[in-house]
Amino acid sequence: MSTGDLAQKAKDAASRSYSPYSQVKVGCALETKEGRVFLGCNVENASFSLTLCAERVALFKAVSEGATGVRRVAIWSDTGFLLPPCGACLQVLSEWMEKDGEVILVSEDGQEKSIPFADLLPMDLSGLKEHLR
Ligand code: THU
Repeated sequence: MSTGDLAQKAKDAASRSYSPYSQVKVGCALETKEGRVFLGCNVENASFSLTLCAERVALFKAVSEGATGVRRVAIWSDTGFLLPPCGACLQVLSEWMEKDGEVILVSEDGQEKSIPFADLLPMDLSGLKEHLR
C-alpha cells in the first residue's frame, strides 16, 4: 500500500474518534509485517486517565487478530500540526515494531513526514526483554 493510501486510512479512522473532552480527533492506520492494515482512533473516557490513544487501539486490534510485527504506523490528527505518538504509545509499539519500522505523521492539510521509529525511541527495552527470557 502506498504511503498516501495509508495516510488516507488514518484520516478515515479519525472520523470515528470519541473525543468529547479534548475535541482532538486522532486516527491511526497500522500496517503489520504480514501486510495487513488495522485502524484505530482515540477513545476518551470521563475519567480522563482511561483514555486510549489511536495508536494503541490499532496496535491491540492487530495483535489480538494475530499480527506478529508492525512495519508502518500512519497517524492523522485534526490539530493542524504533525502529531507524534505519545511516550506511552512509543513504549507499547516498541514491543512489536520491526527494526526498520517507520512512523508517518500526517497533518490535516495533507503534509506527510516519515520518521524511523528508532529516531522517536532511540533506546528501547530489547536488552531487558532478552535478559528476562
Ligand atoms: N492522542 C492520541 O490518540 N494519540 C497521540 O499520539 C497523542 C494524543 C489523543 C489522546 C486524547 O484523546 C487526545 O489525543 C488529546 O490528548
